[in-house]
Amino acid sequence: MTKKIEAFIREDALEAVKEALHAIGIVGMNVHEVRGHGRQGGIELAWRGSSYRMDMIPKIQLNIVLSDHNVEKTVETIIQAARTGEEGDGIIFIYPVEDVIRIRTGERGRDALSYPDDIDARKKAAVAAK
Ligand SMILES: Nc1ncnc2c1ncn2[C@@H]1O[C@H](COP(=O)(O)OP(=O)(O)OP(=O)(O)O)[C@@H](O)[C@H]1O
Ligand SMILES: [Mg+2]
Repeated sequence: MTKKIEAFIREDALEAVKEALHAIGIVGMNVHEVRGHGRQGGIELAWRGSSYRMDMIPKIQLNIVLSDHNVEKTVETIIQAARTGEEGDGIIFIYPVEDVIRIRTGERGRDALSYPDDIDARKKAAVAAK
């Protein structure tokens, strides 16, 4: 089974999250700059003595499509790198993915999701080395 992780994180958490994901062997990913709000509905800002509400806060949306056996470790890694404990740390959605097709090769499914030295390739290499 293939899943998609959509993580909405702080802009300044992206570098740490990316590094932590590379360290565990998550290779394929993409990001969007998005604006939105969660349950607070934005933040109150003060400017020249008056205050106004900023209701669409910039966030980074990080998308990762991966095999479901790697989802938990990936989610834990994102949380560890992105969490400050303050409001606005973000939210993570997980969706099922129907199929994956690499355009160049026609590979589908898990084959289209394997990358040299990714988390699965590392696991295989570790088993083979035993
Ligand atoms: N239900 C939702 N649907 C789509 N996008 C959402 C939803 N909830 C949050 N988001 C996006 O995720 C971001 C997460 O924001 P935020 O961290 O403020 O979440 P929160 O639920 O308010 O949690 P916290 O209480 O920690 O602030 C939002 O800015 C928005 O871009
Ligand atoms: Mg919030």
